[in-house]
Amino acid sequence: MALKTLSDFEDGKFDGKRVLVRVDFNVSVSNGHVGEDYRIRMSIPTVEYLAKRGAKVILASHLGRPDGPDSDYTLAPVAKHLAGIVDRLMAVRFAGDCVGPAVETEVSKMNRGDILLLENLRFHKEEEANDSEFCKQLASVADIYVNDAFSTSHRRHASTYGAARLFDTRLAGFNLRKEVEYLSMMRESPPKPFKVVVGGVKIKDKIGALEHLLPKADKVIIGGAAAYTFLKAKGVKTGKSLIDHEHLPWVTKALDAYGDKIMLPTDHVAAVSPADTSISMVKGDIQDGMAGFDIGSETIERYSAEVAGTSGMIFWNGPMGMFEVRAFANGTVNIAKSMALAYWRGARTLVGGGDTLEAMKKSGVNESEVSHVSTGGGASLRYLAGDDMPGVSVLNGN
Ligand code: 3PG
Ligand code: MG
Repeated sequence: MALKTLSDFEDGKFDGKRVLVRVDFNVSVSNGHVGEDYRIRMSIPTVEYLAKRGAKVILASHLGRPDGPDSDYTLAPVAKHLAGIVDRLMAVRFAGDCVGPAVETEVSKMNRGDILLLENLRFHKEEEANDSEFCKQLASVADIYVNDAFSTSHRRHASTYGAARLFDTRLAGFNLRKEVEYLSMMRESPPKPFKVVVGGVKIKDKIGALEHLLPKADKVIIGGAAAYTFLKAKGVKTGKSLIDHEHLPWVTKALDAYGDKIMLPTDHVAAVSPADTSISMVKGDIQDGMAGFDIGSETIERYSAEVAGTSGMIFWNGPMGMFEVRAFANGTVNIAKSMALAYWRGARTLVGGGDTLEAMKKSGVNESEVSHVSTGGGASLRYLAGDDMPGVSVLNGN
């Protein structure tokens, strides 16, 4: 799918034009300060490209899942943060709403090259309802629409879909295009050998993507709580480890069809509870009353060698254990470091999802040691599963 992007147009197209850019500034904010700002930094190429070409850049985003206006979810701290990282010649202003007179007044004051961030879209319930009147209001302040929020493109909301349809010119931002290019390559024709590392808790979110990737992958390496459901399906004792009973039948089928390429842990770091300080290293069965919280050292060795030795492509989604607790972080730390090694050896590496990025950074590996970090966990899995992405297909006129 060839997406039309900003650079497909002559520079003059943007001069003096009001451009509404859907960004994903859904970042962590505490006490008025932005934490991990990866998503904000990833929008800079698009924002500066437009501002430098004389556009009036109007940025719209959601933050969290508020039920209505709620000062805990204001984007004001994000506007301040953005002002600190954008080209210092560019002014960033903030509008106290995302539609209505407050926005119209702010937009009318904008000069060429100015940047305006609108207040949280989800302060209006009409955003998620894709309400047609709200779509009209949102679209009315701009001439051109750009979507650079891949991570929200699985949502059929006003800002990602309904309002976009009201523009004649709808373009992909640089970040969105990069995400789509990488994920399409992986979905259609991944460089071989192709390996997938899956962790985390919920299998449900990953089934669609795994159905697409299992036939293509040379190895699928499973860790995190997801591994215990696979082990249970094979008849291994898992004690009181977290099991996804609802998806046991799917896991059993996947093991029947692809068992030879699915790698599972053979040893574990187990404890009575995550708060339990007396942890045990367990090989094979996990006894009653105990639960696994990380992969064990023998498994770490096998998994690390498999990941670090890949020359084609690797996709990693989900931590290997409860990495927030130091005693259960070793599996994740080793996978992160092996991913970096594979990258330095020339493999294409992809990391998907906010918690995986956080785990990677806690492991001392940064974004420049990965070919691509997807800004969206949920969105990248949906895309890999082949699901419709309203925020992407709308750019092609659908
Ligand atoms: C995300 O953080 O996954 C995206 O910003 C989408 O947010 P949502 O899951 O609340 O729609
Ligand atoms: Mg989410």
